[in-house]
Amino acid sequence: MSKLIAVTGKGGVGKTTVSALLIKNLIASGKKPILAIDADPNSCLDAALGVKVANTVGRAREEVRSVVTGGTNASLSKHEMLQLKIEEALVDAENFDLIAMGRPEGAGCYCYANDVLKSVIKELSAQYPYVVLDNEAGLENLSRRIVQKVDLMTLISDASNAGLQTLLRLYELANEMEMHYDKLALVVNRVRNGKLPDRMEEIQKTTRADIVIGLSNDDTIARFAEESRPFLDIPEDNPVYQKVQELAAAL
Ligand SMILES: Nc1ncnc2c1ncn2[C@@H]1O[C@H](COP(=O)(O)OP(=O)(O)OP(=O)(O)O)[C@@H](O)[C@H]1O
Ligand SMILES: [Mg+2]
Repeated sequence: MSKLIAVTGKGGVGKTTVSALLIKNLIASGKKPILAIDADPNSCLDAALGVKVANTVGRAREEVRSVVTGGTNASLSKHEMLQLKIEEALVDAENFDLIAMGRPEGAGCYCYANDVLKSVIKELSAQYPYVVLDNEAGLENLSRRIVQKVDLMTLISDASNAGLQTLLRLYELANEMEMHYDKLALVVNRVRNGKLPDRMEEIQKTTRADIVIGLSNDDTIARFAEESRPFLDIPEDNPVYQKVQELAAAL
């Protein structure tokens, strides 16, 4: 059985950074191979991991649809074709593979994209002991029910009061949607003086979070981002990386 870690939160709070650092830590602990799933249409987990995505599940889906509606290739079922295309889209790196979901279907209906997403996650994940899912920003990904059952649900927020309010909304939504998770982690990114906001104690009680961590605003992280260097190369003694290790340990 693979372990699934989902990382979610509103825009720009550090989901991709934390996902990449988590992957770095899983690799360092020998918890590999890992499947990294970039569920953000503006995919950038590849850059954070130092690889390049050439194709996405979204594009694979479009290609299959045009073949099917064009009436060619009767020997393969739609599902088989999709599987092939998705295998082609998989980026094969040394300790992990990466798949980018790309754009969901046009405005209105997400049903088919959702089904593809779910079946991809299910079939692919089964082949890896660890799966890290970097979600797109906001609540939509939860309401589209991309994932139903995760081992470690990680909700990220900045330290602002508005950010923490969104964190609580995400938590409530996840429960309303009856998403199942074994453990809940709350991450407050860019905390002042390395200190969690006072409200976190109450929020931990409300959410019954298993783990709460604060990550400081870090120069090295900012520099790596500026220079487009992969976060996998962040030094072992980096304080943010050290803290992220507590997340992986909660698995
Ligand atoms: N603790 C930190 N210290 C310094 N910079 C950080 C920290 N965390 C994140 N950043 C920077 O903030 C920016 C946004 O982070 P990131 O891309 O991880 O957020 P995100 O939640 O994935 O954003 P999006 O919603 O666009 O996918 C990046 O440039 C990243 O390098
Ligand atoms: Mg991101």
